[in-house]
Amino acid sequence: MRTYLVTGGAGFIGSNYIHYMLRKYGDAIRIINVDALTYAGNLENLKDIENLPNYTFVRANICDKEAISRIFAENDIDRVVHFAAESHVDRSIKNPEVFVQTNVLGTAVMLNCARAAWEREDGTYPEGKKFLHVSTDEVYGSLPDDENAFFYETTPYDPHSPYSASKASSDMLVKAYMDTYHFPANITNCSNNYGPYQFPEKLIPLIINNALQGKKLPVYGDGKNVRDWLFVEDHAKAIDMVQEQGKLFETYNIGGHNEKQNIEIIHIILETLQEMLPEGDPRKAYINEDLITYVEDRKGHDRRYAIAPDKIKADIGWYPETMFKDGIKKTIAWFFEHEEWMKNVTSGDYQKYYDDMYGDK
Ligand code: NAD
Ligand code: TYD
Repeated sequence: MRTYLVTGGAGFIGSNYIHYMLRKYGDAIRIINVDALTYAGNLENLKDIENLPNYTFVRANICDKEAISRIFAENDIDRVVHFAAESHVDRSIKNPEVFVQTNVLGTAVMLNCARAAWEREDGTYPEGKKFLHVSTDEVYGSLPDDENAFFYETTPYDPHSPYSASKASSDMLVKAYMDTYHFPANITNCSNNYGPYQFPEKLIPLIINNALQGKKLPVYGDGKNVRDWLFVEDHAKAIDMVQEQGKLFETYNIGGHNEKQNIEIIHIILETLQEMLPEGDPRKAYINEDLITYVEDRKGHDRRYAIAPDKIKADIGWYPETMFKDGIKKTIAWFFEHEEWMKNVTSGDYQKYYDDMYGDK
């Protein structure tokens, strides 16, 4: 039975990936989920699978060398899928240190422990040992407002935020391990994800949650920054396909071919909420454009991200399957069905952070 070590599996993309993999492979695989449970990690995301015999949760920090090497010593790990990271740009602007700790040093610990467990004396690795480093398109910097400009795997790195700089550094470490030790890895650089279980500090769940409560919808700057949105299950599928069908040592860009200005996203969410709420629902009365509030721009705000997912399509056959109009409906339906989840994550620490960030705007 193949054993996966997934880091950050209690977060947004990690928990979707674990669900996807258990749906796809059932008990033919075993998953060990290692997560420190920061503010972004939520075991509620995995409630439905927590008792499966082929799933184990270990609470550990990826910076803790002893804890991570113990997991490798006690289990014959075949695949590592490394999601664990501090992931929010605004938080990185307020407090960059923890991004360096987790994203750079934590990745170094993961690489060291995997190499120590896997590398033979002659410097080779057993067949089937693979490490996948999950990264972001934000490492490539910002594109101009030109619909023909895209990020490719060959685009030079040019990160601007402390988040993207820390992810770029972690990518460079993975590249160094591949070049120096022939360490069996892949890097994937993905565009913005949306879908179930996303923490409501990111644009899409924040707008859905605020609109449902009749709160203001904060738009940074002129609202015309562009992101390339990908439904999270398509990302989970891409990661699996890269690990199983991709060429080792390669980088693959994963994107939604779905570029939209932030203000367009907000309008789509408002329209879709109106469409999906039942007649007579009192929230229909206040969900409209009057909630939109322009606020101060993010410092160093990247203008446009857009991936051309040509290489992954040509080499592996992956493409973004979910149209945005369908993905956003699925996402909103999920939030309708999980009001309790939203209540839980928006209480306590998250609420404090939210107030600090937006005050009474
Ligand atoms: P998330 O913030 O929702 O989840 C991160 C998870 O990592 C949480 O469960 C958290 O508890 C855990 N974690 C944080 N620090 C840790 C530590 N020191 N040790 C162990 N666990 C720790 O993030 P996400 O949106 O699911 O992103 C997952 C990965 O995908 C990240 O590496 C991110 O850079 C990358 N990525 C995200 C997006 C996106 O749109 N969200 C796009 C491209 C790439
Ligand atoms: P975000 O979801 O934080 O992802 P990222 O910064 O990693 O792309 O933000 C997506 C876009 O939405 C980004 O251009 C910033 C903007 N934004 C707002 O306008 N208002 C908000 O409240 C948030 C969280 C983001």
